[in-house]
Amino acid sequence: MFDKTIRMRRLRSGDTVRRMVRETRVSPDSLVYPVFIAEGEHIFREIPSLPNQFHYSPDELERLTERLQNHGVSRVLLFGLPAQKDECGSSAWDENGIVQQGIRRLRELMPELYIITDVCMCEYTSHGHCGILCGHEVDNDRTLECLSDIALSHARAGADMVAPSDMMDGRVAAIREKLDQNGFCNIPIMAYSAKFASSFYGPFREAAGSAPAFGDRRAYQMDWHNAREAMRECALDVQEGADIIMVKPALAYLDLIHEAQTRFDLPLAAYAVSGEYAMVKAAAAAGLIDEHGVMCESAVAVFRAGADILITYYACELADAMRRGEIG
Ligand code: PBG
Repeated sequence: MFDKTIRMRRLRSGDTVRRMVRETRVSPDSLVYPVFIAEGEHIFREIPSLPNQFHYSPDELERLTERLQNHGVSRVLLFGLPAQKDECGSSAWDENGIVQQGIRRLRELMPELYIITDVCMCEYTSHGHCGILCGHEVDNDRTLECLSDIALSHARAGADMVAPSDMMDGRVAAIREKLDQNGFCNIPIMAYSAKFASSFYGPFREAAGSAPAFGDRRAYQMDWHNAREAMRECALDVQEGADIIMVKPALAYLDLIHEAQTRFDLPLAAYAVSGEYAMVKAAAAAGLIDEHGVMCESAVAVFRAGADILITYYACELADAMRRGEIG
């Protein structure tokens, strides 16, 4: 039966009223832009698997800060591509490592930039796994020592926040303890809490040169059939002292973003990963979808599900869309 007193279309009649009743409000303040810094000089190279994303060597970072300033993006998440890799990923905690150099350069170029660093070993190990190997397995507890050394070296270089993405058990507690012992009790930890063993990371692994040389990451990253386990991972990270928790990837995991938002009182981040970005780019290049529209709709979906923070390769374009009032 159609009750003619109820007409949903009344509040959709024009842009002004639609904007008034909008439920999800978004802001460029919620965006974090992932950046790849490569060791070397004069490197400013488009990443083949991620159109319009670049590798920057430290001497070319001015190009990045110009881009950030043009679009009003003030938060980055740094990844490093070292010149050398070894069994134990030792360049990851070197005070002159690539991320450490990058942090110092970015500080000079753009003092107000908020610098978050990805803390992991897969870009630095010769075997591409996210920790120290014992045979063909990643040794959890030995890896914790390395991860906390990496986090400390990032803090010493001037990082504002560290973000462990390795999925070892106990890494948030280990990093918290190490930072606190060394006078960095005010550096927050954004934990990649519910991080899944996802095929959506494919383009990133090409971009970061971090594909595992054998096997896969299913012995430490989560099985994507599991939702309750994701909540346990979040709860453990909260207990261990995380300041922000994260669900990753984003679009295929909106249920978990929503669930985490209702269960936990911490700020919640979602990472729209490389595969999500590359799919939109490829479909748009094939003339199948409107890139801008899909970008906006997908980002709003993540916020609507409950994320407070969105890490995305589209941060610059989204910030523009928000300022122009196309979303939010
Ligand atoms: C490092 C790391 C990965 C991503 C973020 N940190 C790769 C992986 O776990 O294999 C993926 C990011 C993306 O796909 O955009 N462990």
